Amino acid sequence: MDRLIKISPSLLAADFARLGESVQAVEAAGANELHFDVMDGRFVPNLTVGIPVLEAIRPITKLPIDIHMMVVEPGRFARQFADAGADIFTMHVEACDDLEASLGDARATGMQAAVSLKPDTPASVLQPVLPLVERVLVMMVEPGFGGQSFMPEMLPKITELADMARAAGTELEIAVDGGIKVDTAGGVINAGATTLISGTGVFNYAEGMQAGIEAIRSAGN
Ligand code: DX5
Ligand code: ZN
Repeated sequence: MDRLIKISPSLLAADFARLGESVQAVEAAGANELHFDVMDGRFVPNLTVGIPVLEAIRPITKLPIDIHMMVVEPGRFARQFADAGADIFTMHVEACDDLEASLGDARATGMQAAVSLKPDTPASVLQPVLPLVERVLVMMVEPGFGGQSFMPEMLPKITELADMARAAGTELEIAVDGGIKVDTAGGVINAGATTLISGTGVFNYAEGMQAGIEAIRSAGN
C-alpha cells in the first residue's frame, strides 16, 4: 500500500476541559489534520461546539482543520467558519436542498468543500456532482455520537466511490468517519480510504495517542 494515509483525530473524543493541550498533544503525536464535529440538534439528535471553540484552537495549531457539519443547510455558516480559520468544510448531502449551491457557498470562501454521506445514502448520489467534489466523507456509523461501532457493510461504498472517481478520471480524496480504530482501519484503507478520522481510537488508545495514530496509519500494510 503506497498511498499516503492521513490521520484526522476527532476532537469530540478529546478532553474538553483541556482542549488546547489535547490539540497540541495530538499534533505532536503525528496527526495530519483535525476533525471538528459540529452538530445542530436537528440534522442529528445531539449538540456539540461551534465557531467560538474553533476560534480558540485555530491559533494554537498548524494542522488543517476539517469541519464536519452535521447541520441543516450548512452553507449558511461557511463564511463564519472560514473567517474562524477552517480549512475544509464537509457538508452532508442529506442536509442540503441544493448541493451545488452549498458547494459554491463553501468554495467561495476559499475553503476546500467536501461532501459527506450517511450510511443509508448511496455513492451514486455523487455522480452528478463528481466534477465539483475533491473530497468525500463516508460515514461508517450514523452521525451524531462518538464511540459507536463500525458498520462493515459500508466498506463497498468506499470502493464504489474510488471506482467512480477512477472512471471519471478525477482525483477524489476518500475520508471515513465513525468507529475507526486499529482493528477496523485496515479494511477501510484496503477499500480505498486515504483519510481516516478517529476519535476514541486515537484519544483513548491504551498506549497513548502517538502509538494509536501510528497503529491506525499502518493498519493497511
Ligand atoms: C460522529 C462523528 C465522529 C465521531 C467519531 O457523528 O462524526 O467524528 O467523533 O468518533 P469515533 O472515532 O469514536 O467513532
Ligand atoms: Zn465527524
